[in-house]
Amino acid sequence: MVGAVVLDREGHIAGEGYHKGPGQPHAEQEALAQAGESAKGGTLYINLEPCTHAHRTPNCADAVIESGIYRTVISMTDPDERVRGAGVKALESARVRVDVGMHEDRAMRLNEFYVKHRLTGRPFVTAKFAMSLDGKIATRTGESRWISGEESRLHAHRLRHQHDAVLVGINTVITDNPELTARLDGEGVRQPLRIVVDSQLRIRQSARVVGPNTVIATTRGGRVGLAEVVKLPATGDGRVSLPDLMDELGRRNVISVLVEGGAEIHAAMLSEQLVDKVFAYVGPKLIGGREAPGPLGGKGVERLAEATGLHDLDVTRLGDDFLISGYVNVHRDR
Ligand SMILES: NC(=O)c1ccc[n+]([C@@H]2O[C@H](COP(=O)([O-])OP(=O)(O)OC[C@H]3O[C@@H](n4cnc5c(N)ncnc54)[C@H](OP(=O)(O)O)[C@@H]3O)[C@@H](O)[C@H]2O)c1
Repeated sequence: MVGAVVLDREGHIAGEGYHKGPGQPHAEQEALAQAGESAKGGTLYINLEPCTHAHRTPNCADAVIESGIYRTVISMTDPDERVRGAGVKALESARVRVDVGMHEDRAMRLNEFYVKHRLTGRPFVTAKFAMSLDGKIATRTGESRWISGEESRLHAHRLRHQHDAVLVGINTVITDNPELTARLDGEGVRQPLRIVVDSQLRIRQSARVVGPNTVIATTRGGRVGLAEVVKLPATGDGRVSLPDLMDELGRRNVISVLVEGGAEIHAAMLSEQLVDKVFAYVGPKLIGGREAPGPLGGKGVERLAEATGLHDLDVTRLGDDFLISGYVNVHRDR
């Protein structure tokens, strides 16, 4: 997501633009075209460094230089390996004044999926769950529909639309039989790639998630209807290696993954330090029961000091529910 504004010499807005999508002109190209001659001696504000690779002629850095812009204010350099400072260098060599870092944090947040993918080769991972006020994601019999209210569920569909892929563990498919599609009104709804993590290929062909646009991540070879079966390395206990799955998704240019549970997959993703952000919908219900699961299975940590801390919290009211989101603090020394 990139936006640009050109101010003329007097500081009036002369052009504005944003990148509308793949194959479309970049933001600065749009803003400069709109500004025309008024760009001469003016200032360009942009949240991402102009690129230097020839996606069109001239490339963005050259277009800025040719426009006669005097100063360029850039929020962040582009982590794409084809750029990484080359745009700034090109501008400076052409004696354009360049300031980098204005609202850098906000710019990184805006493009957090892209930044994570370009820096690590892996997608940005959001873990999402709905729980009761007493921290249960299902009753002791496995019933989980619905713990959260309608507004929360609509929000969750928007999250699916925003992410490239949605991922669940095989037990969630067996228990809930979800379709994992983004069901929203209006046009332009994006359907995420659907991923089921299923080491032993236990999924039934009749499961609602099985179809085109579905990947079954497994440790075995086989066929499941129209879904794509992807064989991956196994962990010591014979389960799909989640870091390898993330690498594979990154190679396929899947830059964001929404993990929708269940408890075992959430715990495994977290303990592999693959989760970047958490969305917890909290419904005003009390479920109780020692056997009823919480959002995270696995073994959990032994000591509170080892608990995963969240930062940059946000709390939103959605109908009668609360949505709490935060970023995961990775304990690299664990
Ligand atoms: N309230 C909510 O937001 C919500 C959301 C989703 C689910 N749920 C509830 O959660 C329950 C299901 O959750 P669950 O915890 O039992 O199962 P799950 O997380 O859906 O699936 C776990 C399974 O995934 C497979 N798996 C493959 N690779 C793995 C790996 N590296 N690490 C861990 N697991 C791996 C394992 O089976 P294999 O070894 O056979 O591969 C494992 O048993 C249901 O009751 C469902 O209704 C609630």
